Amino acid sequence: MTVVADVIVNEPAAPDALLRVDGLSKVYGDRTAVDHVTFDLPRGRSLAVVGESGSGKSTLAKMIVGLEAPTSGSIWACGADRSTPATRSQERRTRGRQVQIVFQDPYSSLDRRQSGAQALDEVLRLHHDYDADYRRARVTELAALVGLDERQMSVRPKALSGGQRQRIAIARALAAEPQLIILDESVAALDVSIQAQVLNVLMDVRDATGVAYVLISHDLAVVRQITDDTIVMQNGAIVERGTTERVLDSPEQDYTRQLRASVPEPGWTPTRRTTRSTP
Ligand SMILES: Nc1ncnc2c1ncn2[C@@H]1O[C@H](COP(=O)(O)OP(=O)(O)OP(=O)(O)O)[C@@H](O)[C@H]1O
Ligand SMILES: [Mg+2]
Repeated sequence: MTVVADVIVNEPAAPDALLRVDGLSKVYGDRTAVDHVTFDLPRGRSLAVVGESGSGKSTLAKMIVGLEAPTSGSIWACGADRSTPATRSQERRTRGRQVQIVFQDPYSSLDRRQSGAQALDEVLRLHHDYDADYRRARVTELAALVGLDERQMSVRPKALSGGQRQRIAIARALAAEPQLIILDESVAALDVSIQAQVLNVLMDVRDATGVAYVLISHDLAVVRQITDDTIVMQNGAIVERGTTERVLDSPEQDYTRQLRASVPEPGWTPTRRTTRSTP
């Protein structure tokens, strides 16, 4: 693990952190996917997680949301310890309401038999005590927020484009009214104008509700637009951290400079490129 001098931001000391990850590791066989990761995310702030392909970003996200069990370390989120899987269904539901995740490819997470309207309604019924009229109005409202019309909300996922499915997944995450949303390359597939609209929605929702975001993105313009702080991951470990502005404008690590200099895409590997070009 690289020793990082700049550890003031995200140091696990904030008393009211919404999310505290401490010494978190995940080992798959002989591969350490996440290596002693420690950070704090205060309420209402947004954290970017950047790093080359395979650096452990999605694995970190899956542990935070409870889809993967940590090998070691702890996770504290929304006032409760989440280091181990929820055992009771009530607890699982509470955790699901508080922390939502949107993946890059929402096709796998959307029920193929359900329309967008049905998917949103299901979340509203599961997590809130709203009557049918209110739920209908809320589905319409959420659809409008992400720019989907009634027809698009009434068809099954296979009849939609990738970007439209992505917006349903984002609307569904918002429907839960979570305290934290993890966006794992969630806006990467959207074309530019839709992406701008969705990013504006995410920022408006944050202003209105105080929701916090963990944004995993290769797109540093998006990182700059919606995050306050950034951690940089390499081989599962954090190699640089600080305010997004500081990390992107004056990176301290060569690795961060390489990330910034490359024109990255999902799955990009700047260090491999460097290996080739370095004598
Ligand atoms: N279920 C798994 N079983 C075994 N190895 C895994 C598993 N999930 C991830 N890994 C390994 O852990 C490492 C980190 O993977 P991860 O998906 O977290 O990377 P990432 O930073 O999200 O990459 P990308 O930018 O390509 O999405 C990789 O070496 C990957 O092969
Ligand atoms: Mg990933």
